[in-house]
Amino acid sequence: MPIDADVTDRAGIAAAVAGARPDVVVNCAAFVDVDGAEDAGMAGAFAVNAVGAACVARAAAAAGAHVIYLSTNYVFSGTAARPYEEDDPPRPINVYGASKLAGEFATMAVAPTATIVRTSALYGDAGSRAKGGSFVARILAGARAGRPLAVVADQFIAPTSCRHLAVALGAVVQGRPAGVVHLTNAGACTWWDLAVETLRLAHIRATVERTATEQAPGRALRPPNGLLGRSRTDALGLPALAPWQEALAEYLASDGDGGRGLQPSS
Ligand SMILES: NC(=O)c1ccc[n+]([C@@H]2O[C@H](COP(=O)([O-])OP(=O)(O)OC[C@H]3O[C@@H](n4cnc5c(N)ncnc54)[C@H](OP(=O)(O)O)[C@@H]3O)[C@@H](O)[C@H]2O)c1
Repeated sequence: MPIDADVTDRAGIAAAVAGARPDVVVNCAAFVDVDGAEDAGMAGAFAVNAVGAACVARAAAAAGAHVIYLSTNYVFSGTAARPYEEDDPPRPINVYGASKLAGEFATMAVAPTATIVRTSALYGDAGSRAKGGSFVARILAGARAGRPLAVVADQFIAPTSCRHLAVALGAVVQGRPAGVVHLTNAGACTWWDLAVETLRLAHIRATVERTATEQAPGRALRPPNGLLGRSRTDALGLPALAPWQEALAEYLASDGDGGRGLQPSS
């Protein structure tokens, strides 16, 4: 069941978690505005993503519940020539990534058997309020509104369906592995590839201009290689997720219409 409480309110979250009497707490709460985090710093991203993570982990531990912390490929610099494995040394290049890495450490410091689930490039039915919907939803909305579309073609990601991630999280809830696991849909593409495939699958004709990271607006640096390997995740026996194209096709064919009506952000 969802718990409605501010994760930075240590007493409030402790009471809310205790009241829910959970076996497992999945901490999805985060300050997710990657560019905004550059300005908000300790008062914003770190407060929710690190201090809040500690509050949630403490509340879960007090309630005797296992804690799962949702983390990100942005804990890595993205300069490697191969996907980042679970035990590769993280080196975030933006405040958001640093705050999520701090959240990983804070969670494990309080709850040493916690599971850290890193994922990437999520899209799903609800979309992020803070970001004005997922990238997929913003591309659909932009194309439907006839706006010019320009997307970076030099950052590699594994787009991941929230529905598929939720199913995989079910296996994590069952197995409760301690430490880091990586859960993304399989395969790799650029944000430009994701935009083009989204429009193709949605039968929308629109031109998507390729841009380079240095031309893209945004104050935060982005890792050029955002791919996550899953050596440890496989060894733990967690199920692999479907290829990203398959997951995207399933999502766009579903009743949710891939976010029709969501407003794009900048
Ligand atoms: N989106 C991605 O591509 C991606 C990639 C890797 C990892 N992740 C991780 O996945 C998780 C979900 O992120 P998302 O991108 O899907 O964004 P999202 O839908 O905006 O989820 C973040 C949630 O955190 C809540 N929240 C913010 N501050 C809070 C606080 N102080 N106390 C309690 N709740 C708070 C937000 O509530 P309100 O909307 O009401 O503010 C929102 O429900 C995050 O942990 C994120 O770091 C996301």
